[in-house]
Amino acid sequence: MRLDRYVSQASGLSRSGAQRAIRGGEVAVNGVVQRRAALSLAATDLVSLGGCPLQLDGPRYFMLNKPAGVVSAREDSLHPCALDLLDEPRRASLHLVGRLDIDTTGLLLVSDDGAWSHRVTSPRRRCPKTYRVELAMPLDEEAAVRLRSGVSLRRESRPCQPAGLEMISPTCCRLTLTEGRYHQVKRMMAAVGNRVLALHREQVGSIVLDPDLAPGAYRPLTPAEITSMS
Ligand code: URA
Repeated sequence: MRLDRYVSQASGLSRSGAQRAIRGGEVAVNGVVQRRAALSLAATDLVSLGGCPLQLDGPRYFMLNKPAGVVSAREDSLHPCALDLLDEPRRASLHLVGRLDIDTTGLLLVSDDGAWSHRVTSPRRRCPKTYRVELAMPLDEEAAVRLRSGVSLRRESRPCQPAGLEMISPTCCRLTLTEGRYHQVKRMMAAVGNRVLALHREQVGSIVLDPDLAPGAYRPLTPAEITSMS
């Protein structure tokens, strides 16, 4: 698609308004200002107007660095909701791809593409999710063996899938899960006699939380991040 047509459709500017913005140096493609209205765009090009990313009415995909105190729900009478942190048009059509507890921070995916979200969250796909876990007590070797081989949770007959466990310090580890049971990390640590003090999601599949995103900030996923879940 031509650049001026894309800018016009994605921003609501008239075609001549889009051309003026392009000539005026307000439009960048992949971060480089482009002044040629007839420039032909590739499907993966990222276009911005005045520094704001533009998107057509196609599916949208974002990563959010969820702060503590924000709930993974559409509405809540007491707490701010994760979707409220996104300043996007047609916000009602966006949904959270999975959930994090109110006190859990880190990577939360948001989209309006239900099929894509299903691929990320479907238990059959076993999409790995990695958490940095701060613990109340040192994690001993016996606990590590139980977590790595599949610990049993209270009131559940089926043990957890084996978890990936990397020790960062005696009271801090990186845990990778391929399933998503209710409060799973906290319950796994309780099952080995420990307690989670802080939980931060770093990665979902191959999508890593962008270190440039401050708590509460978000950005569109890149084409490579989107297709990594296809
Ligand atoms: N496990 C938990 O216990 N809480 C989360 O928010 C995510 C995984």
